Amino acid sequence: MHIDKLPRFPLAQLPTPIEKLPRLSRELDGPDLLIKRDDQTGLALGGNKTRKLEFLVGDALAQGCDTLITAGAAQSNHCRQTAAAAAKAGLKCEVILNGKKPDVPNGNLLLNRLFGANEHWIDRPQRPAKLRELPEQLRAQGRKPYVIGVGGSNGVGATGYVVAMIELMEQLRVSGQRVDHILFGTSSGGTQAGIELGARITGYTGKLHGLSIDKNDPEHLEYETEVAQIANECAEYIGSVVRLTKDDIHVVYGYKGEGYGIVGGLEREAIRLMARCEGIILDPVYAGRAFGALVDLIRKGAFKRDETVLFWHTGGAPALFAYAADVVKAG
Ligand SMILES: Cc1ncc(COP(=O)(O)O)c(C=O)c1O
Repeated sequence: MHIDKLPRFPLAQLPTPIEKLPRLSRELDGPDLLIKRDDQTGLALGGNKTRKLEFLVGDALAQGCDTLITAGAAQSNHCRQTAAAAAKAGLKCEVILNGKKPDVPNGNLLLNRLFGANEHWIDRPQRPAKLRELPEQLRAQGRKPYVIGVGGSNGVGATGYVVAMIELMEQLRVSGQRVDHILFGTSSGGTQAGIELGARITGYTGKLHGLSIDKNDPEHLEYETEVAQIANECAEYIGSVVRLTKDDIHVVYGYKGEGYGIVGGLEREAIRLMARCEGIILDPVYAGRAFGALVDLIRKGAFKRDETVLFWHTGGAPALFAYAADVVKAG
């Protein structure tokens, strides 16, 4: 393995802390709960994309690129973090966003503006064409764009989560803690790919559970294949001989609710529980939904009382403010 020799642009405050959640464990009458605070990665209000972007921006700089291009939902955390990373690295940033430009930007959108990203508003189906055309247009103007796919989920980006898994295992070794289950939200697959590969590389023996944010089984059985492909692309990039198949990837479905970004009772309860028991902020789209899934699994008896369960907080807090009305609604 040659992770240390790969191009990497420092963006994150590492290691992120691991905390105990004793009041939440008691409230849920459940297993011991730990949280890994990747909402505290440090760049522009934090989140999982900081880790991926260290390697993606490193690669962009190594290739002599001058512009980052990426795409996402209007409240994309990935776009916000990419815009911030570009600012820090002295690169230009173009973000392709779904929907209509609002009069007053809020949440992640407001932050994109502050970081000086150039916005391109499209209807979602136009995304693939826009991701092809925009780099061509910029090249014709003499710029050198680096395209980061949605969520930064490729072999280069996933490297950030191999490093994260190595970091977590080292923290557990030093503190003498054992973790039986690790749960995290999964959507474009890069985070899970890196964690799954990192788990193999480090010899983690507990279980990993990717909590699907935006897919329902059996609608997306190919997702496991996609995650394994990203992991294998990553293995090649970092020089590891490990290879994964779809059968190695565990994804939990059934928590999509009314759809991506639509806040329901599951997310509202999860956000309140975490806030009131532990003073920690979750967003309604990713970490709130993922933690809601974890609460449901605890209530269904998925974990033994003497087990330790780690929730990997992947960030997303800025989106909370854009969903204020949905979050404070009753029920
Ligand atoms: C806060 C947050 N958590 C989790 C995820 C899911 O990560 P991935 O896309 O790598 O599966 C995202 C992706 O956008 C996110 O913004």
